[in-house]
Amino acid sequence: MHVISDIQETRNLCQKWRDNGESIAFVPTMGCLHDGHLSLVKRAQSLAEHVVVSIFVNPLQFDDVDDLLKYPDTLDEDVRKLSDYSLDIIFTPDVKTFYPEGETAVEKIKLGPITTLLEGAQRPGHFDGVATVVKRLFDLIQPDFALFGEKDFQQLMVIRQLVKQFSLEIKIVAMPTFREPDGLAMSSRNIRLSEIERQKAPEIYQNLLKIKSALDEGCTDYCQLEKEASENLAKTGFVPEYVVIRNSETLLQPKSHTEDKVILIAAKLGNTRLIDNIRA
Ligand code: PAJ
Repeated sequence: MHVISDIQETRNLCQKWRDNGESIAFVPTMGCLHDGHLSLVKRAQSLAEHVVVSIFVNPLQFDDVDDLLKYPDTLDEDVRKLSDYSLDIIFTPDVKTFYPEGETAVEKIKLGPITTLLEGAQRPGHFDGVATVVKRLFDLIQPDFALFGEKDFQQLMVIRQLVKQFSLEIKIVAMPTFREPDGLAMSSRNIRLSEIERQKAPEIYQNLLKIKSALDEGCTDYCQLEKEASENLAKTGFVPEYVVIRNSETLLQPKSHTEDKVILIAAKLGNTRLIDNIRA
């Protein structure tokens, strides 16, 4: 397993594999790895001959400086976790190497409406930053497969849009959300929750399930379901940002009751912002 921070070295290794006709699966991360990330790594191993994991806290996608500064840095621990897997490369560039022109001078990729609703509206510029970093990583590694979690449902859609818009020959593999036993979606931000907040946090998943079962029973009053869940969360101490039932292909409001749907929630608990979703 090579831990590499150098771009050229990473490019050369990946190029060598491609020249030999060997396949590459890629898992981009920002580190602070948990079992959700590791489920992507395991799947990557089953897909290709070589696996590359990147660990890079991308400043371009943080709309909140405080969030960036507080983002956990656990590189040694992450490398130790990954050493249990027979990986090929852990790519860990620093910001100057990755954005040699300076992060403020980077020309960001803009992908249209999917980047400006829901998460994009709450965190302006976030998905431009995600698209920009992922495109650079894709260009460098040129993987056959890239794995992303459904936990970040809208991000997954943004990545699919990126692949489409740039006609990239990369198969995007979506992986189910990995949860704690009490239902809380695993997230690098969960470690910021206080003990009391941690006890309350699974309420997000509980409310997703409540909405899903109401939909399964035939309820069509989406506004009412969204409102009730939002009120439940507020009562528990959350500050809900959105609770919505959307078309799972477009993230727009469903026009008919037969469309495939996804329920998405973003809410703050203290200083920690949590997101989660389930299909319905
Ligand atoms: P990060 O939050 O580290 O997540 C890396 C990948 O792990 C993403 O595809 C994310 O959806 C997935 N993931 C996170 N929690 C998960 C869970 N509980 N179950 C399954 N998968 C989970 O997402 C990012 O980093 C960044 O935006 C990135 C794509 C690396 C670009 O900087």
